[in-house]
Amino acid sequence: MTHELPAASGPFRAGDRVQLTGPRGHLHTITLVPGKVFHSHKGPLAHDAIIGRPDGSVVVNEAGVEHLALRPLLTDFVMSMPRGAAIVYPKDSAQILAQADVFPGATVVEAGVGSGALSLWLLRAIGQSGRLASFERRDEFADVARGNVETFYGVLPETWSLTVGDLAEELPKTFAAGTVDRIVLDMLAPWECVDAAATALKPGGVLLCYVATVTQLSRVAEAIRDSAAFTHPLSSETMVRGWHVEGLAVRPDHRMIAHTGFLITARRLAPGTVLPELKRRASKSEYSDDDVEAWTPGALGERVVSPKSLRKRVREASESAHLARERDALHGETAADQSGGAQTDGDQSGGGEAEGHQSVH
Ligand SMILES: C[S@@+](CC[C@H](N)C(=O)[O-])C[C@H]1O[C@@H](n2cnc3c(N)ncnc32)[C@H](O)[C@@H]1O
Repeated sequence: MTHELPAASGPFRAGDRVQLTGPRGHLHTITLVPGKVFHSHKGPLAHDAIIGRPDGSVVVNEAGVEHLALRPLLTDFVMSMPRGAAIVYPKDSAQILAQADVFPGATVVEAGVGSGALSLWLLRAIGQSGRLASFERRDEFADVARGNVETFYGVLPETWSLTVGDLAEELPKTFAAGTVDRIVLDMLAPWECVDAAATALKPGGVLLCYVATVTQLSRVAEAIRDSAAFTHPLSSETMVRGWHVEGLAVRPDHRMIAHTGFLITARRLAPGTVLPELKRRASKSEYSDDDVEAWTPGALGERVVSPKSLRKRVREASESAHLARERDALHGETAADQSGGAQTDGDQSGGGEAEGHQSVH
């Protein structure tokens, strides 16, 4: 478990991947081979002109066109590598590492592997003494992921194992109960793996699921709660908005990657532990097995307001509207004055509207 991953710094060597930025920001990624020539419509560029130069150099091709040469960052690599399945974007990978608290030396389980984007980040985060066990049920995706990991690291890291199969079946065969630090699930139906994850995790271990839709989010949340093996799940999404910063032109970018997915995390309780609040009240949310496919508004988080509370809010709204009318009358600016007509109780959409929004909470 002490294999060293290839260096990510120093002068360019044969075999390194290099990202070339040409005029107008066009990007090309090449792998350096002595004697080879990179051809673009801007002219030929000998790999030998790059080998031996420091990372971050400007190299000139045979037509005199300059290119900036940089080793791709992991983010660059992930965004340009071959994809079998949809990848976890860097903004989410960063949050996954933080929220799942992936640390050097951790034993981490990941499924599915898809194109291996998240595997690359996890492998880096666990360091040389950790272990990443990845599970993928589709052979061809496993192949894409293996290729991507090997391309980026130059080797298949000794800290990594990739098992082809269904996580729920393979996990108990791979790990004894209570031996895994962190489990990250990126799959269509993570709720099918919650029990297997609960068995494999150490007490205090973290389960993190990445899902694309709210229906998946609510379903996995309920599966986590129903298992009674975890703390209450915490959910979030991550939005990163780039900014254009040039002189006095400082503003948010016009475009951004808006929706990718949601993260939901929960921590494994010690076996036999019951959360204090669950001792006091029923834990099951209001849904039956028939609702599982089509979640009810209640289960989707819509607040149910009691009739008493609703009556209170109506009262507050009407009192506030009354105050607004009195205030306007005092200043001689009633809606009736402005429109020249009579103001009825049911016609509050003019002057009273803004006030109403402020006072109804
Ligand atoms: C969206 S992809 C994962 C992408 C990956 N995290 C990445 O960053 O490249 C989802 C993958 O999960 C796999 N999968 C779905 N259910 C699975 C299960 N129960 N066990 C193992 N793999 C599963 C699918 O075959 C698919 O390749």
